[in-house]
Amino acid sequence: MAGLNVALVGATGLVGRLTLSILEARDFPVGRLRLFASPRSAGKRLRFQGDEVPIEAIGDDAFEGCDLVFLSVETPLARQLAPRAVAAGAVVIDDSSAHRLEPDVPLVVPEVNAADLARHRGIIAGPNCSTAQLVVALNPLHRVNPIQRVIVDTYQAVSGTGQAALEELRVQERQVQQGEPPTARVYPHPIVQNLFPHVDSFRDDGYTREEWKMVQETRKILHRPELRMSATCVRVPVPIGHSEAVHVELERAMSPEEARELLAQAPGVRVVDDPTHNVYPMPKDAAGRDEVLVGRIRADQSHPRGLAFWVVGDNLRKGAALNAVQIAEALLPSLGSRALTVGAQAS
Ligand SMILES: NC(=O)c1ccc[n+]([C@@H]2O[C@H](COP(=O)([O-])OP(=O)(O)OC[C@H]3O[C@@H](n4cnc5c(N)ncnc54)[C@H](OP(=O)(O)O)[C@@H]3O)[C@@H](O)[C@H]2O)c1
Repeated sequence: MAGLNVALVGATGLVGRLTLSILEARDFPVGRLRLFASPRSAGKRLRFQGDEVPIEAIGDDAFEGCDLVFLSVETPLARQLAPRAVAAGAVVIDDSSAHRLEPDVPLVVPEVNAADLARHRGIIAGPNCSTAQLVVALNPLHRVNPIQRVIVDTYQAVSGTGQAALEELRVQERQVQQGEPPTARVYPHPIVQNLFPHVDSFRDDGYTREEWKMVQETRKILHRPELRMSATCVRVPVPIGHSEAVHVELERAMSPEEARELLAQAPGVRVVDDPTHNVYPMPKDAAGRDEVLVGRIRADQSHPRGLAFWVVGDNLRKGAALNAVQIAEALLPSLGSRALTVGAQAS
């Protein structure tokens, strides 16, 4: 297939850099590549397939001739840029929360709802990092035994907040080692040697926006608008890898053995579940891996149709960059024919 004209906005960020390396590692057919970041980074270069690609600030012609635009920037900027890219003729894959809940924007985790891509109108959203790994683990159970209720508690890595938060954790670790009080700028409190039940801002109903997003996004991806669900999101001093304690109530009783078998066969899942030998998913093992790790699978003794398990995933990979590239791969047949048509018209 001819290479596509690809733009990556937010190329210098945690998600952007990883998206670039995953595009390269998976041999995604890139023809022309344009990399964008803030004016602060303009003029720097990033390597891609042996070339040094310059980073540009976003100008008026940024998306001219682009087939595909990855948006890995904060929500307000993504909200501005996505319609511009679509107007220039590109398909947009947006990692931010700008468009996730819009009715005509598919919110996609390819292992779960790739079929939703068929109804896109230019913008496709990837979910919140905590939601992505959760639905990869819920869907194999849900497909055979509909989930009635989900309770999830998260333990979220600082890289989920981006480069500045990861740097803040490193600085605070050094400060503590040197006997200095840790200084917090990104978060309301020091995160080193600490944790807090506070991810994103608080809403009037007492939940945080992160918790609310997890619920709404899970409902949308699983096509279950009425799913009963509650989340508590906690930030922990882990660099990469979100962990989740999940309790589900199913339509019918399911044994842990059946759940383990379904999960073991599911795309994107790796069962890591041998607690008697101290084997269970941990962020240090999930970081850098594509699969979502699931373990501690057991009957929920508080409910006859309940299961409990523990899910860990790389928030930067399955939670954002890998998921975006998987969406792009799923779109390739339609993007490829579109690029060929445009090319033929131009020649
Ligand atoms: N981190 C995760 O685990 C995760 C998971 C799912 C979704 N997301 C979403 O993905 C997006 C990116 O997250 P991240 O963690 O990669 O953040 P990040 O590390 O803070 O990176 C932000 C990127 O945005 C760029 N940027 C800032 N202002 C800009 C401007 N005016 N024009 C163009 N580019 C600009 C930055 O460029 P400079 O380097 O020049 O400042 C940088 O490349 C966010 O919407 C986030 O919510 C993140």
